[in-house]
Amino acid sequence: MTFDVGAVRAQFPILKRQVHGKPLVYLDSAASAQKPLAVIEAMTWAMENSYANVHRGLHALANETTDAYEKARENVRGLINARSAEEIVFTKGGTEAINLVASSFGQRLGPGEEIVLSEMEHHANIVPWHFLRERLGVVLRFVPLTDDGRLDMPAFAEFLGPRTRLVALSHMSNVLGTVNPARAIIALAHASGVPVLLDGCQAIVHGAVDVSALDVDFYAFSAHKLYGPTGVGVLYGRADRLADLPPYQGGGEMIGTVALDHITYADPPHRFEAGTPPILEAIGLGAAIEWLAGLDRAAVAAHEHALYERVKEGLNGANGIHEIGTAPGKGPIFSFTVAGAHPHDIAQVLDRYGVAVRAGTHCAEPLLRRYGASASVRASFGLYNTLEEADLFVDALTKAQTFFG
Ligand SMILES: Cc1ncc(COP(=O)(O)O)c(C=O)c1O
Repeated sequence: MTFDVGAVRAQFPILKRQVHGKPLVYLDSAASAQKPLAVIEAMTWAMENSYANVHRGLHALANETTDAYEKARENVRGLINARSAEEIVFTKGGTEAINLVASSFGQRLGPGEEIVLSEMEHHANIVPWHFLRERLGVVLRFVPLTDDGRLDMPAFAEFLGPRTRLVALSHMSNVLGTVNPARAIIALAHASGVPVLLDGCQAIVHGAVDVSALDVDFYAFSAHKLYGPTGVGVLYGRADRLADLPPYQGGGEMIGTVALDHITYADPPHRFEAGTPPILEAIGLGAAIEWLAGLDRAAVAAHEHALYERVKEGLNGANGIHEIGTAPGKGPIFSFTVAGAHPHDIAQVLDRYGVAVRAGTHCAEPLLRRYGASASVRASFGLYNTLEEADLFVDALTKAQTFFG
């Protein structure tokens, strides 16, 4: 299989539109990716043809929708090679998946017990742990970063001690693009008897993830960056880990029995899916996964990398443009500052050329502080971007730089 970007683009209706009279160049996929027809049509089809609440009906539509929802769970299982669909919990997003672990796993933590994070985390993988620091006296330890944007692995190894209860790290940084050495991280943590949660919100989009081969304990991600809809995400938990976790939210469908003076809970994954779940969204995620399965993921990754390289070549070390994050093997994210111009101003000028980028802290304030910046511009590539778009971005950025120069 090879990768035909033109054929792929044709499946994303939104990419045909113009912005400020210019063709849209969408370079904000790390924030949220656009949706292929396969996803749009699967959700529309369900609403038009077979929709009801799941797990509670005895009528045909309820059964059909339950089957579709559980098929989506099976698709997720296949995507990440979990051993069982029961290891897949649907949440409302990657953020909720991490909050679930922090809230449930965290219930058993106490003062002085430690959680290892890093300076490159998204706020979604910092703030829930701060709750435990504030409420329970848990100690947070942040692995420092090297100048090119890698985890300081010797420092990480030193952090693992008798009080460490969990390691929670991003698999791929949403600002630096760094792909962290998951296998080495997990091997080191497990050697100290410490479970590992990986925030896979970015990594799941750009490469194959095999949770069984990794032997990771928890893996969290959102659908909307993976060409699926908003409103649904995934927490993978190894069966023994999920079985050991107390419930997260309470409500319908997560119980065994409810009486006035006692309660029992359902087994995972339903124990963690209180109330009506994101049914249509899960169906959309399932469709996104099936759609991605029709592509050569290695060729997609090579294409995305070529886009990043094209931008680097086009800028050719341009004066005043400083890239944040240059780790070897990084993913297709280009974060940078421009001397003499605020990132928001650069983003606004680029927008006038139809180029959509992100500017700000990217929900990673400690990371930006580490690199001496208060904000940056971020161009992030998706599988539908073309080399011509990479050139248009370089051209527009050069013009923006001249404008402020
Ligand atoms: C690395 C990382 N973690 C977590 C999140 C949070 O994901 P969501 O907002 O979809 O819950 C994001 C989203 O930007 C991210 O990039």
